[in-house]
Amino acid sequence: MAILSIPDQHITEKNPSEIRRFLNDRGVFFDQWDAPVNFEDSATPEEILAAYAGDLNPFMEAGGYKTADVITINHLTENYEAIRAKFLAEHTHSEDEIRYFVDGQGLFWFHLENGQNGEEVFNLLCEKGDLISVPAGTMHWFDAGETNPFVKAIRIFIDMSGWVPVYTDSKIEERYNQFIVPSH
Ligand SMILES: [Fe+2]
Repeated sequence: MAILSIPDQHITEKNPSEIRRFLNDRGVFFDQWDAPVNFEDSATPEEILAAYAGDLNPFMEAGGYKTADVITINHLTENYEAIRAKFLAEHTHSEDEIRYFVDGQGLFWFHLENGQNGEEVFNLLCEKGDLISVPAGTMHWFDAGETNPFVKAIRIFIDMSGWVPVYTDSKIEERYNQFIVPSH
């Protein structure tokens, strides 16, 4: 279950409908699907995609999304430090970054400018069952933690080339660079 945090305001929100309202007000799509399936480490992407086809296929059809795959980060991931660094620097993409968390957890950081609330930085802890779409062009970064990372997520694309990160070099993430998982 997702947790929303606004560190500068010391706000933490755990109520799913409040989180959804907050994100939707800012043009960020968020949903939660039932995630009853527990996968072994050896589960293949095909097995995972098939297990969620009932939610995934209508969602992809409605949004015009063409491909989906599965990303796994765990204790077996090689060069995790380098992979983490790529996600951790603030960037944008030319298409929406959509992730459905099948297992594990990760922190999406959003940096919105010039919204109705001025400049805002907040994060969303995504866990099993959470679906998040970071809109194209939105400044963001992602962290699965310095140690013991565990993420298993379905990635949904229109065109994979749209997911190439465009770095802002703002270094804003260094002001917030910490993986603090709020307690449930
Ligand atoms: Fe990204």
